[in-house]
Amino acid sequence: MKKSEYLYLDHAATTPMREIAIKAFIDAEHEGFANSSGGHNLSRKAKNILEESREIISSIFEVAPNEIIFTSGGTEADNWSIKSLFNKGIKSNSNLVTSSIEHEAVLASAEWIKDNDFPVTFSECLNTGELDKNSFLNAVNENTIVASAMWANNETGIIQPIKELTKEVKKINSNTLFHSDVVQAVVSAKLNFHSEGIQSAAISAHKVGGPKGVGAMFISNEFKLPSMLHGGKQELERRAGTVNVAGVASFAAALQEQQNNFDDEISIMMNEKSEFEEIVKNNFKVKIIGENEKRLAHISNIQFEKVNSEVLMVDLDLNGLGVSRGSACASGAQRPSHVLEAMGIKKEYINNHLRFSFGWSTGLGEGKKAAEILLNSLEKIS
Ligand SMILES: Cc1ncc(COP(=O)(O)O)c(C=O)c1O
Repeated sequence: MKKSEYLYLDHAATTPMREIAIKAFIDAEHEGFANSSGGHNLSRKAKNILEESREIISSIFEVAPNEIIFTSGGTEADNWSIKSLFNKGIKSNSNLVTSSIEHEAVLASAEWIKDNDFPVTFSECLNTGELDKNSFLNAVNENTIVASAMWANNETGIIQPIKELTKEVKKINSNTLFHSDVVQAVVSAKLNFHSEGIQSAAISAHKVGGPKGVGAMFISNEFKLPSMLHGGKQELERRAGTVNVAGVASFAAALQEQQNNFDDEISIMMNEKSEFEEIVKNNFKVKIIGENEKRLAHISNIQFEKVNSEVLMVDLDLNGLGVSRGSACASGAQRPSHVLEAMGIKKEYINNHLRFSFGWSTGLGEGKKAAEILLNSLEKIS
């Protein structure tokens, strides 16, 4: 099979880079290869590219430029926001509240805090896929240093009640830092951090057609976080290390194009996903996770009756359709998904799910084509 015939529906894992992002990377590397912290003309060029990129990204999220810090991706931003306030100097009953359906970048950071003997609560999830607000808010108290809830889930696409949570958390403890992992939400939702009441967010370039290994952290000017990396005084003295100027320029170009084409891109993702789900559910016994909930446009998580997802995924791959079982890390390890477990999906169905995710490069007709490949495989193996 020719590579071009391969249908890629794993955009929630990563996306191909947009042409404009590749060009921005090359141009920035040519014009701004110098160290952006230096004192000469070429360094100033690099610094200008860096600050223009910061302006573009901050205006997209309607925040101040100095509220955006460039990182190596979503994982670093999640780790930083969640871990850095838990240090030796704070009271031993200082706690973290998060949810049981977070990405591993958040869950593992929370485990690290627990290993350092601070109390951590992983709030429960409803079987709709929405985190349980009561369980989350009941755990927040005057000693909660950080509360963290993702804007939308990466396995199911289900959008979480962030505004309601931030409002209630502030009423309980106005000093709590509310962090949100918006890595998937940025792909198909318009976000405004200040109006949703979050003070910190993790963003990743490679989910929106930018390069891998680049991301940003939004941190509100109301909060000061200690540096995670120790070294030079880059990024307004908040993140040490020579800045990846070309990566950042490429990230800004990708996000800018995504915003300019937002309505068109989202409508293609929505239409292709709807057509795909419609054909599949009319021809095979399936359950579409969160079908009646608020979901991101690009993610469809489907449960297939009596079909092992690993077997199905391999057959789809052989027939030219690339999808995944859930988050990339969990699928590599072949563990049952912690998100589906938290939603109370029965044991006998938990390994019967696949995630189909659409993206900026999804073209017309891909939903139908994917459904046909899928139905062929299901006929063979079920
Ligand atoms: C919800 C969510 N958070 C965090 C990450 C990690 O982002 P990055 O790959 O940029 O470290 C991902 C990527 O899969 C994600 O989907």
